[in-house]
Amino acid sequence: MGVLIAPSILSADFANLGAEVRRAESGGADWIHVDVMDGHFVPNLTIGPPVVKAIRGVTELPLDCHLMITEPDRYLADFAKAGASHVTVHAEACIHLQRTLAQIKSLGMKAGVALNPATPEDHLAYVINDLDLVLVMTVNPGFGGQKFIAEVVPKIARIRKMLDDAGRNGAIIAVDGGIDATTAGIVHAAGAGVLIAGKSVYGEADVSKAIARLKESCSSKASA
Ligand code: DX5
Ligand code: ZN
Repeated sequence: MGVLIAPSILSADFANLGAEVRRAESGGADWIHVDVMDGHFVPNLTIGPPVVKAIRGVTELPLDCHLMITEPDRYLADFAKAGASHVTVHAEACIHLQRTLAQIKSLGMKAGVALNPATPEDHLAYVINDLDLVLVMTVNPGFGGQKFIAEVVPKIARIRKMLDDAGRNGAIIAVDGGIDATTAGIVHAAGAGVLIAGKSVYGEADVSKAIARLKESCSSKASA
């Protein structure tokens, strides 16, 4: 399967969110990435289930909700009701990670675990059969447009190996933070199946060209 591109609406024009989501969909986006921040887990505040519900009405694409919040369990049912297809929680924010993942799945959504740049992959070992997705952060979460942390790249390859060794070939790795035409090929070669991109998609006038450029930089890297 080729690489999937998930534009992050954090870098979109919030005053025109419906049009921004449709712009990504018609430009070739595979998923829409929704960054949910609570001002506690990360030093920023963004959006929640009502906005997910509004977006659900304007696109057919999977809505990939990245919860950068403490106590995510309190809101899982609300995200399910709003139409989220994937919910990713941070390992650092979950005291009972396995329970949280089971709850996400019982609500009919795909369950993801996000790891901050400094968090080792060991956190995945005892939930490897409970997750559908691993979200590897290549910036410290909280803001769009930050610099890619290259030291994280070997962790992507280690997680891919962990998943494959456990027979979880269908579990996908998404990479989030500082993804552009330069870094996309690097993380894809390391094992990323989904690329999340804010600034490098919505910062461009032509979203469809921006998405095509990200996909292209993965195929040229793979054939190099
Ligand atoms: C950061 C968010 C990212 C962010 C990525 O906390 O999780 O999804 O929107 O933005 P870029 O692609 O601009 O680094
Ligand atoms: Zn994100």
